[in-house]
Amino acid sequence: MPEIAPHIARMPGSGVRHILELALRRPGTIILAVGEPGEVAGSAVRDAAAAAWRDGDVRYTPNGGILPLREAIVAKLARENDLDVDVEQVWVTVGATQALFTAMAVTLQRGDEVLVPDPGYTTFTMNAHLLQAAPVPYPLRPERAFQPDLAELETLITPRTRAIIVNTPSNPLGSTFDRATLQALLELARRHDLWVISDEVYERFTWGEPHVSPASIDTDGRVLSVFSMSKTFAMTGARVGWLVTPPGWRPTMLRVQESLVSCVDAPSQRAALAALTGEQSDVERAATHYRDNLAASTALLDERGLRYLTPTGAFYLWIDVSHVSGGDVMAWCERFLDEQGVAVTPGSAFGASGEGWIRVCVASDRTSLLEGLRRLPSAS
Ligand SMILES: Cc1ncc(COP(=O)(O)O)c(C=O)c1O
Repeated sequence: MPEIAPHIARMPGSGVRHILELALRRPGTIILAVGEPGEVAGSAVRDAAAAAWRDGDVRYTPNGGILPLREAIVAKLARENDLDVDVEQVWVTVGATQALFTAMAVTLQRGDEVLVPDPGYTTFTMNAHLLQAAPVPYPLRPERAFQPDLAELETLITPRTRAIIVNTPSNPLGSTFDRATLQALLELARRHDLWVISDEVYERFTWGEPHVSPASIDTDGRVLSVFSMSKTFAMTGARVGWLVTPPGWRPTMLRVQESLVSCVDAPSQRAALAALTGEQSDVERAATHYRDNLAASTALLDERGLRYLTPTGAFYLWIDVSHVSGGDVMAWCERFLDEQGVAVTPGSAFGASGEGWIRVCVASDRTSLLEGLRRLPSAS
């Protein structure tokens, strides 16, 4: 038999999935390990998809997406992200997942290096492996409140470095990069002629300063921006996101999109259009729910003397359990699940700098969230 390609066979698995699979085998588990909204998209959004199916709107669409959706995205980017882009720069994708893969596939050759946040979302690293590129983690450390150390980051750049991935608000950290940090990152990218791939899937959930899109302060067209309907509109299973490319990429994107997916399914695009153009009260309600859950959770952690990173975005809490994890937070999470019936994600699943920390998703209902947090061993 021929063999599976060695670079695929060597690809590391996701530690996030590992805990979830264990949790699903244990009835009654409080699951705080899934990164998705507790609610689902509102009825107007679901009705739009249902109507598309009913009316037979199930044919191929243009590669970049249906025009009304691309236009709605252009209007949204102008309104909320301070981005002035042409419709041809917007490519509707199968979630942010495909947008990220596409962004990396068009900028990285085999053997190229790409800087990825550590701790950071696992797909950044997995995509690099798929593309035979080398992921180079740039550490985000507790002593700097998990903000990047740009001097250290610069020492990681080699002649093979092609791109840097920026994720604000961050999964798993629940932190954000401010305008000054993004400006410094862009300057560094200009100095070393790197692409910047910006993952903004949590853009609508910030708890202080409003979100800044790196492309809005880009001066020379080196930022590729990745957005998603999944988290904002609670439609993770509808699989709609989009990639914003620099100007003039249409011929390239047509070929890449055609070979990867041809197009996103028409009913999901209809649902996305309804979500973007409809009233936004569900998004505001969700944001209030996450903000209140975070406030209740941090009050409880303060009471119990547990250390955490002050959340400024997304719907995650990043909690220090190094007083009990004994240098192997994955093993500790397995024991915690077994003994206390609570599934949380080990920080080490997001990179070496996550050792000793856990990620808790606060997007579910408050009662089980607080019950799960109460079962964490206190610091004293
Ligand atoms: C940082 C980040 N980027 C991208 C994604 C993928 O999102 P989508 O559902 O749009 O593919 C996720 C999902 O958890 C995420 O946390």
